Order: sequence, then C-alpha cells, then structure tokens
Amino acid sequence: MPDSLLRVLTCGSVDDGKSTLIGRLLFECGGIPDDVMRGLESDSRRFGTVEGGVDYALLVDGLAAEREQGVTIDVAYRYFQTDKRRFILADTPGHQQYTRNMATGASTADLAVLLVDARKGLLAQTRRHAAIATLLGIRDIVLAINKMDLVGFDQSVFDRIVSDFQGLVPNLGKIAVTAIPICARDGDNVTTAGTRIPWYSGPSLLQVLETVEPTGARSKSTQPFRMPVQYVNRPDASFRGYAGTVAGGEIHVGQTIVNVAARTEAKVTRIVTMDGDLQTAHAGAPVTLVLDREIDISRGDVLATDPLPAIGDQIECWIVWMDETPLFRGRAYQFMLGSSGGVATVTDIATRLDIETLTESAVRELQLNEIGRVTLSLSHPVVCEPYQVSKELGGFILVDRLTRGTVGAGMITEIGAAHRNIHWHRLDVDKAARATLNDQKPAVLWFTGLSGAGKSTIANLVEKYLHAQGRHTMILDGDNVRHGLNRDLGFTEADRVENIRRVAEVSKLFVEAGLIVLVSFISPYRVERMLARECVEADEFVEIFVDTPVDECRRRDPKGLYVKADAGQIRNFTGVDAPYETPLNPEIHLRTLEGTPEDLAEQVVAALRGRGIVV
Ligand code: ADX
Repeated sequence: MPDSLLRVLTCGSVDDGKSTLIGRLLFECGGIPDDVMRGLESDSRRFGTVEGGVDYALLVDGLAAEREQGVTIDVAYRYFQTDKRRFILADTPGHQQYTRNMATGASTADLAVLLVDARKGLLAQTRRHAAIATLLGIRDIVLAINKMDLVGFDQSVFDRIVSDFQGLVPNLGKIAVTAIPICARDGDNVTTAGTRIPWYSGPSLLQVLETVEPTGARSKSTQPFRMPVQYVNRPDASFRGYAGTVAGGEIHVGQTIVNVAARTEAKVTRIVTMDGDLQTAHAGAPVTLVLDREIDISRGDVLATDPLPAIGDQIECWIVWMDETPLFRGRAYQFMLGSSGGVATVTDIATRLDIETLTESAVRELQLNEIGRVTLSLSHPVVCEPYQVSKELGGFILVDRLTRGTVGAGMITEIGAAHRNIHWHRLDVDKAARATLNDQKPAVLWFTGLSGAGKSTIANLVEKYLHAQGRHTMILDGDNVRHGLNRDLGFTEADRVENIRRVAEVSKLFVEAGLIVLVSFISPYRVERMLARECVEADEFVEIFVDTPVDECRRRDPKGLYVKADAGQIRNFTGVDAPYETPLNPEIHLRTLEGTPEDLAEQVVAALRGRGIVV
C-alpha cells in the first residue's frame, strides 16, 4: 500500500451530487473495505502504530475523546486508494444544524472539496462550509462545480461561480483554491478529463487529490518537536518509556528534550516503536521515548524542544458550540486538550461569526451550532499553542461537568497567563488567623430551593441562633444582593449564571474573613452550585436543599409572584417556565412539608454541630 495519506472533507448536500461524486471516486479507484480500515484504526488505538508507518492515530485521536463521551457524530468515513496514495473521505451531512459534524470532520482534514451545483451557484451553505473548513485550519480547497452537463458545459456559468467564490476568499485567510468543472454522474474531470469540457485544461479532481501536499504534514515537519505524553510505559523496573504520537517536528536519539510544564531536561537515549528502534522519528509517528535520566513526567505532560510552546491559563479561542443549552459567560466547563485537562470558566464572549456573511457581531451567548470568539480562564496553566500552529496543542473540547457530554470544540488563537502583572499578595493575617480570633470554623451554608420555598425564613432563624451563640455570621440573600452588587442582572439563564458566580466569589471572601456565611439564593443550576462549592475547602461548604413542592410554593406565594408568573406577567420564573435542578447530594435535605421553620432550623443547627461548625 502507498505510504502517503490524504484526509479529505467533502462538503455539500445530496442535491449537489455529493453521494454520486463519492460513489464514483470509490468505484473508479477501488475502495478499501470499511471493516479493513476499521481494523487498522482499532489496531492503532491499541498499539499506537500500524504497518507502513502510516498514522491513523490522529484521525482516531480526534474522535476518541468524543467516543469516550459516548456522543454520536454523524460523520461517515470512506476509504479508497490509488497507486499514489490512500484517502480518507470524511463525509458530513450538509444540513445547517450539522456544524458539529462538519467541525469534527474538518478538524483532521487536509483538504476540503466544496461541491457546488452549477445551476444553483454558491449557496449560503457553501459559504458556511468554507468558513468552518478554513477556521479549522484547512488551507486547500477544491471548488468542484458539478452538473456542468445541465448547464450545457457553459464556461461562463463556471467562471461566474469561481469569481463569486474569489470574492469570499479575502475573508477566509490564506487558502489555495482549485476550481474544477465536473459532471460526477458521468465522470467528467473526476478521475480523468473526458472530452466534453474542452475549454478546461486543468487537473481532474483525483489529480489534485493525488498531488496536493497534505497541510498537516507540511506544517508539522517544519515545527519544533512536540509530543504530548499519552502514557508512561513501565513494564518492569528496568524500563521506563514515555509513549505518545509525535505531534510536530522530529526527534533524534541524543537530542535534549524538555518537559515543558516542569522545565526539566533529559536526553533521548532510545526511540522505541512496534517495528524496532529508530534513530529519528517524524511528526505523526507513534513512539516510546527512553531518556538518560529520571525526570518527573506523567500523562498529559508535553515534551518539546526549543522554542518551547506556551504555558497559559487565559485562552482566547474560537468555539464551535454544540449543545442545546447555550454557552454562557461565567459558566464553567471541563476543558480537555489532548490528555491534559482542567476546569475552564468563560470570562468573555466577544463575538459571533455570521457564517453567511463572514462578519462578526457582539453577542452575550452562543447558541447551538454558532461559532464565536470566547475567552476562557483555566483552573491551572496548560501547555498549548495557537491552533494555526498546532492542531494537537491548539484544539480542545469542552465537556459538560455533570452530563459529561461534549458541548463545544475550541481552537486557540491567543494564550496568556493570568494577571501576569497582578500578583497575589501573601498576607500575614490569613483565613486561619481570622478564624482563630473569631474562635470558629468558617463555612458557607448554601440554601437552595424554589422561590417561596422558605430559604430566607430558615436561614434567618439559623443566623439568629448562631448570633446568639456568639458566632460571627453574614447573610447573603438573593432579593437583597440583587438590589446592590447584582442589580444589573435579571433572570435569564445567562444572568443567573453570573448572579451565582458573583455570590460564590463573595461568599469565598467572607469565608476568608473567618465568617459563617449563610447564602440564600434559588441557584437553580447544579453546575453553578458546584462552582460555589469549589470556591472554598471541601469541609467548608454545606449545601442545604430547602425542598418544597412547587404547588406548595404557589399556595404560599408570599410575594404574589407565582400569580403573576402563571398569568404570564413575569417570564423565566423558576418552577413555572424556568428550570430548577434539584440537588443530587445535598449535605442537608429539608422537607418543609414535614416541619415548622423552627424545627427545620433546629435540624440545620444539629447538622452543623455534627460538622464541628457549631459547638
Ligand atoms: S437565582 O435563580 O438567580 O438564584 P435569586 O435567588 O437571586 O435567583 O432571586 C430570586 C428572587 O427573585 C425570588 O425569590 C423572587 O423574589 C425574585 N424573582 C423575580 N423574578 C423572578 C423569576 N423570574 N424567577 C425567580 N425569582 C424571581
């Protein structure tokens, strides 16, 4: 089998003749049966290598994270080969809501074939596909103008579509475009020229596919060496190797590598592969490196040579959003870049890319299938590079922290280090000192539940008791804080996320002050309550679920808000037309139908005694 491999993304809809084109390529070139290829893929996953030195690992890696999340992606992969090359075609559905699939297919592709129906010309969809493909780093585009037979092989039709597309190119960045008039049904210019389009003397589609230099390989070979460590291979005490796929550049025996995060160095003494030892390994090769000395290296670390990649925790990026629930500022997600990860909080959503006009406009959230510029703040620094430099160190996914589903794909554009110029002042009087003076264990008592559930009533009774006991307390109540600090926020999901984020940060400050903080907010989303919990030490956070059925809240309706919500005068009312996600594992669960507020407050105090917060 030929060594060279090209990954091709095919874009277009069935109407444009996409399946006809793919069918013809497979038919004329001889497809590799899917099960054989699948066998190769799973081999590469298991052993990190396949015969012939061809790397399928990248393709697999791109999807592995998704697969592990159990998310289905509608990308069909087709395989065929000629005597020059092997090809993987990623075929994505053409419909608008399939941005996600398109992005998945594009993230590993070297070249995109944009299929255009000669009768229809450029459609919004063609522009969208061109935008996503180039955003994901595809630099070679074939504009395949199909159904030329149905426009009488008219050159002026072809020229007009090409010039329309040229008009878009300045917005797409640096790309190379080859336009080819074809008739997929009969085969003109698919593999060979045919005689019906004499005015076109350029290459056929297959000739382009066979000769274009894969972008991935081209840029990777000129990069400095990079390898994210996938696992530490230690079969016995005498052997220790670091396994991974060379993501960029090359490495020779004798060369010094750096573990980027730790800034420790060692020399490579062996490059071990399935086919024996190598002197040099190139980008794409799955290898195990053996070093001349023991330095601390673990899964997720990046080995590199100068100039080293960046280490940052403030990331500017493009995000392709893939979830029904929009991306909100202030919300935190699991961040996965190769085998390293952390928690990423959205600190800014700058713009959304209008995929039809390729212009950007300001937005507050990103909806399903939208693409935008976002700033993320990471829980700890990661080794990374801009996506344009390295897909491996610049591409990542965002995962919902509770459902574990993949919700976004990201491409890094800028890397910064948190508050490079703002230093954390180590102060002599710290939380422990303040707590000692107060003679108490600081804590956050987080009351959550529906409006009218009784949170504030019970919190008030608990605070009165603590106060009488000489405890130092502070109470934060939704209605009150919304008059001051959070007066700019309403009740949309985005605003509630920000409301709770600020309150979580404020309660953290009060805990630093050595106080027992009682927080009484509906706080309807689990993931924000999780964030609040993580702001303090594990034993400092007490989640108290004030559990009152919505019908009972409606019956009590102390502020008359349910009447208004039911009448449609208040929108986004929790329990009516906005969700409340009940706590799954609260430290304290108060069923308000089963006791008076005094009983329930007593229950809280007893639980606090059990935790050593009240003596
Ligand atoms: S949260 O959802 O963001 O945590 P928060 O606790 O601050 O809400 O505020 C809830 C209080 O705001 C309620 O007790 C109620 O008095 C008032 N309120 C006004 N509009 C709404 C609404 N649409 N949904 C819920 N509460 C509302």
